[in-house]
Amino acid sequence: MSELNNIALKILNDGKGILAADESTGTMTKRLETVKVTSTKENRLLFRETLFSASSMTDCIGGVILYDETIKQETSKKNKIPELISKMGSAAGIKVDTGAKVLAGSPEEKITEGLDGLRERLKEYFKLGAKFTKWRGVYNISKDYPSKLSIQSNAHALARYSALVQECNMVPIVEPEVLMEGEHSAKECFLKTSEVIKKCFEELILHKVDLKGIILKPNMILAGNKSKDKISNEEVASLTLKCLKNSVPSEVPGIAFLSGGQSEIEATENLNLINKNNNTNFIMSYSYGRALQQSALQFWSKNIHDIEGTQKIFNHRAKMNSLAAKGKWSIEIENQ
Ligand code: 13P
Repeated sequence: MSELNNIALKILNDGKGILAADESTGTMTKRLETVKVTSTKENRLLFRETLFSASSMTDCIGGVILYDETIKQETSKKNKIPELISKMGSAAGIKVDTGAKVLAGSPEEKITEGLDGLRERLKEYFKLGAKFTKWRGVYNISKDYPSKLSIQSNAHALARYSALVQECNMVPIVEPEVLMEGEHSAKECFLKTSEVIKKCFEELILHKVDLKGIILKPNMILAGNKSKDKISNEEVASLTLKCLKNSVPSEVPGIAFLSGGQSEIEATENLNLINKNNNTNFIMSYSYGRALQQSALQFWSKNIHDIEGTQKIFNHRAKMNSLAAKGKWSIEIENQ
């Protein structure tokens, strides 16, 4: 088994998933402002260190995606953040794209940037202890979008990024996110997501990326948040499975969903149904940002020095998602 395949499996095996704590300073500031906490370097670290030292890091969180600021920070006990994460039994990862910018030629859409100088930055992150990385391509759905141009150019960037990451002996998380925002139906989300993912793999193969050494991070198949035709959680699970079965090559070891604006319970329930009905050979797990941190952040914002209280809430969410990753979650367990 290749080294990269080993890392990918270690991150996702046994009901483990990923904590996406890689909000850029801008995004983290927005999150903190909504709970009325000033976004200082110290406060961002305090919240993150509280989560990274929680007991669920050992059993439920196989990897944590960090932002550039955090991977270089030291804990209150003067450990480097990647050391803390590895001491807890998890792996440190790093977001390496530099954000989605206006796509020239189709200004309503975005292209993710960050390829210039990436090889050098990857070497630095590897030395800091990163085992895996993340790059997010983003696509919006409407009558004319995503365009062929956005599908093609984001797939190309994801593939070039992945090849460089593997060259540096880390596992790339490939994240093509088809956004939930909009009036589109679940069927449209299914068709567009399938097209986006297929094009990503076409490019990954062209760029000689070892598919056994990546993790795919897709959206689930959902109706747009402004759509009139809502679908049931069972339909979300079956459409998501159908889409991935048809568009992801069998070599890929694992799929870790983003939560994309779903509520915490919704994201857990959908993942649980996906695993209950999983008729593929892929591990189906989570790489949640908001759906793992929202309640913990709410509590912490009012009690920023209550480490135990904040960790209790985070541990519960991590445990619920870990059960869902095995298809063993239920609303009764959730409310116990
Ligand atoms: P959400 O789970 O909040 O969508 O974040 C996941 C992520 O990493 C988006 O890039």
